[in-house]
Amino acid sequence: MLVLGLQGSPRKKGNTEFLLNEFMKESEKKGAQTHIIDACGGNINHCIGCGSCEKKGFCIFDDEMSREVYPLLRRADVILLATPVYFYNTTSHLKTLIDRGQALWSRRYKYLLEDPYNNHRKGVVLSIGATKGENLFDGVNLTAKYFFDAVGAIFDGGLTYRRIEERGAIASYPGILNDIKNEVERIVTPYLKRKKILFACRENACRSQMASAFAQYIAGDRIEAFSGGSSPAENINPVMIEAMNEKGLDMAYKKPQSIDSGVSQVTPDIIVTMGCSEECPFIPGVEKIDWQLPDPAGESLEFMRNVRDEIERKVFDLADGL
Ligand SMILES: Cc1cc2nc3c(=O)[nH]c(=O)nc-3n(C[C@H](O)[C@H](O)[C@H](O)COP(=O)(O)O)c2cc1C
Repeated sequence: MLVLGLQGSPRKKGNTEFLLNEFMKESEKKGAQTHIIDACGGNINHCIGCGSCEKKGFCIFDDEMSREVYPLLRRADVILLATPVYFYNTTSHLKTLIDRGQALWSRRYKYLLEDPYNNHRKGVVLSIGATKGENLFDGVNLTAKYFFDAVGAIFDGGLTYRRIEERGAIASYPGILNDIKNEVERIVTPYLKRKKILFACRENACRSQMASAFAQYIAGDRIEAFSGGSSPAENINPVMIEAMNEKGLDMAYKKPQSIDSGVSQVTPDIIVTMGCSEECPFIPGVEKIDWQLPDPAGESLEFMRNVRDEIERKVFDLADGL
């Protein structure tokens, strides 16, 4: 599972950095993968309101956001929005990243496409301010809530601290490490208890991509799904994307990967093969299931629909049997 941290403070060794780093360390101790995006790196363009994402479904900019952040937002199980309070809101650095969430908002609310993982991803706020007013975090929380909804995450609270001003002062806040430990236990641990299933096919462009997406959509609370191919294609198949869009599911930002890189992320409990059984790695103690499915590469949309529906039925049965 992946915990993605969006770091919004420009102050090095500051309070937000401490909070986020400790959260990540604790998550890693539990067995999660973590990744931090520094929103203050200056590599993310401001949204210019051109409307291109609403017309074409994708942002026009080719920058860190498009190349790295959108795919990570789609891969993450938990998204942490970490920011000091600046004038009752997030820092402008983080707000730049948040505004670019408009491209994912468009896919969800203009194109009516759901990221398969929307129902199971969580959004959490880590925030710190110098003053003590009751409404100190209202602006951050409201912005976070709307951002999380746009990128397909369910807002689930977080940790906020008042009256912390000097650099690093949070480190001596009474019980801080315990608070973080408890929050990781509440947010991260349930994801680590899911069955890890690797769906494998030849190119990781159609069948295993569909199976993994259905597993996330139908049973993302019980299954950690990932996929790979014995001979991965350059890109996922456009006919497959169309067939999944007909079901309302969005396959944007997905890239074929090899079975080996799938397995290097997590050791699966179960491997489901579909057309690459003999090339699949043997991992002792891992259950192997083979689904007999025709390869839809190069076939018509009608053919793809039949394979898609068969995969959906099989994923339902698999999830039921867990
Ligand atoms: C430009 C700026 C604006 C700030 N605005 C607020 C504010 O509106 N309310 C508040 O309580 N603290 C405000 N602060 C204080 C910071 O939130 C506080 O010092 C925090 O601990 C900084 O965290 P960091 O070390 O992670 O950057 C502001 C600080 C700066 C530099």
